[in-house]
Amino acid sequence: MAALYRECAVIDAALGKLLKGTIFAGRVYRFASIDSTNSALLQDAALKDAAGVGLPEGAIYIADQQTAGRGRGKHAWHSPPGVGLYLSALLRPHLPANDVLGITLAAGVAAAEAITQVAGIECDVRWPNDLLVQGKKTGGILTEMNSSNGGAVVVGFGINVNHASLPPELQETATSLFLARGLLSDGVPLKAARIDATALTTALLQFFDREYRRLAQEGLPALLARFEQRSSYVRGKRVIVGEEGGYEGITDGLDERGFLRVKTADGTRIVLSGAVRALKQESEEIGT
Ligand code: BTN
Repeated sequence: MAALYRECAVIDAALGKLLKGTIFAGRVYRFASIDSTNSALLQDAALKDAAGVGLPEGAIYIADQQTAGRGRGKHAWHSPPGVGLYLSALLRPHLPANDVLGITLAAGVAAAEAITQVAGIECDVRWPNDLLVQGKKTGGILTEMNSSNGGAVVVGFGINVNHASLPPELQETATSLFLARGLLSDGVPLKAARIDATALTTALLQFFDREYRRLAQEGLPALLARFEQRSSYVRGKRVIVGEEGGYEGITDGLDERGFLRVKTADGTRIVLSGAVRALKQESEEIGT
C-alpha cells in the first residue's frame, strides 16, 4: 500500500477546536515540512488508511514550509519556513460541474475577508485567484481535482504573511502582509507588526466554510455578486490577458459560470484560464 502523507503529520487539536462549527473542525493535519500540501492532499484523498478509513471532506493539510510548493501554470510557490501560510483543504462537493470555478472564487472572497479583518489592510482579488495588497500579489489559490479520487477537490491557499523580505525576482510584483503593513500607501514607513498566523488561518477557514455553504445553498449567482463586490478587476479595468496569444481590453463582468468577460476592439472575449494583468492608465504612466 502506498505510504500516506498524513502518517507524518500531527493533528493540530488547538486549531481544530478554534474551527468548531465548520467542516474543518478537528480535521487539521500539521506538517513541519512537506513537498506541497496540495500534492499531498490530492494523493491522500484517494487512499484509505490501514483501518480502511479515507479522508473526510474538510481535512486540512497545513505546513510550516514547503520544499516544492506549486502555483498556477506550473510556477513554483516560494514557501520559506515559519513566515507564510501554506494550507490545502479537501472538499467533496455535490455541485454541478459548471459551479466548480465557484469554489476558487469563494476561496478568494474568504481569503480577502480574512486578510482585511486580521491584518487590517484592504485586499483586492484579481480574477480568478490572486490576492493583491497595495497592487502587489500577497497570496494565491490553487484549486485542483483528480478524476481518480471520486470527485475530490483540493483548494490550496498560499499567503505571504510575515516575510520581512522577498527574493529579488519577486520584489516588483509581490509583497507580504507584514511588509504591506509597514508602509503607508505613499511609502512613508509605519511601525510594522507581525501578523498573528493562527488568527489569520482561523478567520480564513471560517470565512471559507461560510462561502462554501452559501455556494451550495444559494447557488453561483449570489457568489458571483459577492466576488464582484470584492474585486476591482471584474468591471471597467483595463487589462492584458495571457491566453490565445495575448490580448488587451476592458473587463465587463463575469458570465453565468464565473468566467471573466473582456471587451476588446474585436468584440467581447471570455477568459477561461489565462493570467489577467492590469494595464497602467496613461495618466499613471506619465506620472500625473
Ligand atoms: C497561485 O497564485 O499561483 C497559486 C498559489 C498557491 C500556493 C499554495 S501554498 C499551499 C498549496 N500547496 C501548493 O503547492 N500550492 C498551494
